[in-house]
Amino acid sequence: MRLVAPSILAANFNRLGDDIEMINRSEADFVHCDVMDGVFVPNISFGIPVVQAVKSVSKKPLDVHLMIVNPEKYIEDFYRAGASILTVHYEACPHLHRVIQQIKGCGIKASVCLNPHTPVALLEDIIEELDMVLLMSVNPGFGGQKFIENTYRKATQLKELIVKRNAQTLIEVDGGVNFEIGQRLYSYGVDILVAGSFVFNSENPVETIANLKQL
Ligand code: DX5
Ligand code: ZN
Repeated sequence: MRLVAPSILAANFNRLGDDIEMINRSEADFVHCDVMDGVFVPNISFGIPVVQAVKSVSKKPLDVHLMIVNPEKYIEDFYRAGASILTVHYEACPHLHRVIQQIKGCGIKASVCLNPHTPVALLEDIIEELDMVLLMSVNPGFGGQKFIENTYRKATQLKELIVKRNAQTLIEVDGGVNFEIGQRLYSYGVDILVAGSFVFNSENPVETIANLKQL
């Protein structure tokens, strides 16, 4: 699959509605919402009311990336705010299996994110339960960072694990994605590209989104 999820972290928050309308007009498959708590990551972005406001304007499903500690406390809140996919960090969940069941219990897609240093092999005993795995290709917390090359190897390992287990899990990559990197990621079996600054800093974001899907 070749899907694109623009990250609104790079949007203009003074006119967030206009940027969501742009995504509505585009061929984007999701709106990627980066929730940061200033504890799990060294930055604070936005939370439940903003996700709810985005949902009220968006025609695309919301792909909500929780960069927060204790995500189990807020699963139902983000479900009610309109998340279609909910991603929690492996590093933030000592009881990951339970949190995944909690997300699925809401009737939405459950996903786990791995930081750049977290090995893919740690998902061996849970991969069949996951609708999606999000590989961080930068250290989470900020947009506009440089893509970490080791992500290619992790994408390959993850694809092998998914195929070996005959799982239906999708692979998403987040951070520093552009055309060249996106093309390579798709060739390694990545299904969904997250792109923030590359989309929103481009001359024509609708066209950039379309081109990311055609790689
Ligand atoms: C980083 C976020 C990303 C970020 C990507 O912590 O998870 O989604 O917005 O931004 P770019 O595409 O600019 O690297
Ligand atoms: Zn993200």
